[in-house]
Amino acid sequence: MKTRITKTFGIKYPIILSGMSWISTPELVAAVANAGGLGILATGVMSAEETLEAIRKTKSLTKKPFAANVTLYFPGAEKNAEVIIKEKVPVVNYALGKGDWICKAVHEYGGKVIATVTTLKHALAAQKDGADAIIVTGHEAAGHGGAVTSLVLIPSIADAIDIPIIAAGGFADGRGLASAMILGADGISMGTRFMNSVESPVHEKQKAFSNETDVYKTIYTDKVDGMLARVMDTEGARKLIKKRLNPLSSLILSRKIAAMLGFPWMKLAIGIMFMGYKRSMQMARMAIGFDAFQAGTMDGDNKKGVLPIGQVAGIMHETLTVKEIIEKTVKEAKKCQDVLAAKMK
Ligand SMILES: Cc1cc2nc3c(=O)[nH]c(=O)nc-3n(C[C@H](O)[C@H](O)[C@H](O)COP(=O)(O)O)c2cc1C
Repeated sequence: MKTRITKTFGIKYPIILSGMSWISTPELVAAVANAGGLGILATGVMSAEETLEAIRKTKSLTKKPFAANVTLYFPGAEKNAEVIIKEKVPVVNYALGKGDWICKAVHEYGGKVIATVTTLKHALAAQKDGADAIIVTGHEAAGHGGAVTSLVLIPSIADAIDIPIIAAGGFADGRGLASAMILGADGISMGTRFMNSVESPVHEKQKAFSNETDVYKTIYTDKVDGMLARVMDTEGARKLIKKRLNPLSSLILSRKIAAMLGFPWMKLAIGIMFMGYKRSMQMARMAIGFDAFQAGTMDGDNKKGVLPIGQVAGIMHETLTVKEIIEKTVKEAKKCQDVLAAKMK
């Protein structure tokens, strides 16, 4: 299977593992790379030292290209980006911020850049800033998907830009891959599907839930981490939605973010005081969101914790190895050519 994505990144299949905090670890990233896809190492909740260690571990587990992500909106993200660039990671994925300086630095050592976007405005900005490809995330997605569904969002952006598109949000099998290509993408990125893989470190309880759920048991809310996000409909998520916060909470809670990211707390606290009401409330939500995401992901705690999960969980019913997921997806997508030809006669 050859598309602009396989050619640009030197991979066998146009299938990408999304960057998922605590889940897209060196082991999972390397499993995807060794099976012919491109894994994105998630550094969002890591300090610069942890990021360096994770990159080196990934390099020891695979000789194939891999990516590392940086969420520019998070405190300390620039330090992580500096580490990723210094280590010359083959592909850098950035989101929620201006990435022109990342494109320049990564291109200098011959690396490639993927920007993650949810709107046409940000897709155009990423293209202008020099990104080699974009991940376009639709409404169905786990986590921070856009307001528009993939079915409409992908073609609307494909019609307006020249760089290759990786479709994300609602893709879990070969039907999804074939459809994404028809809509104008050159590959897909899957979060929920790989979260429910044998190699995924997510709590086994969440894999079982994901095999049993239907397409309706998710909530799309900005009350978990301060940004609109899709999560599993659980007691923990509903409690967070009801939780009341005030600007003082963000100062108190920011200690947690600072400690987790190895960022000086005083610097963050001063920053928050000058952010204004709306952004400081968002920071408070982010702090409780981080804790809840960790509990949902690693402890499988659905009473206190929260797990990002896509609507697509409702159409996947078994936990497979990374290799099985990739090979099954490619095989099914190829078969779709015959299905389409028969229906188009
Ligand atoms: C358990 C889980 C954790 C995630 N964590 C993050 C994260 O930390 N940062 C992020 O940008 N996206 C995160 N995502 C979203 C994915 O990066 C991706 O955009 C999304 O999963 C794609 O949609 P899909 O789930 O329908 O495949 C997460 C997704 C899942 C399922």
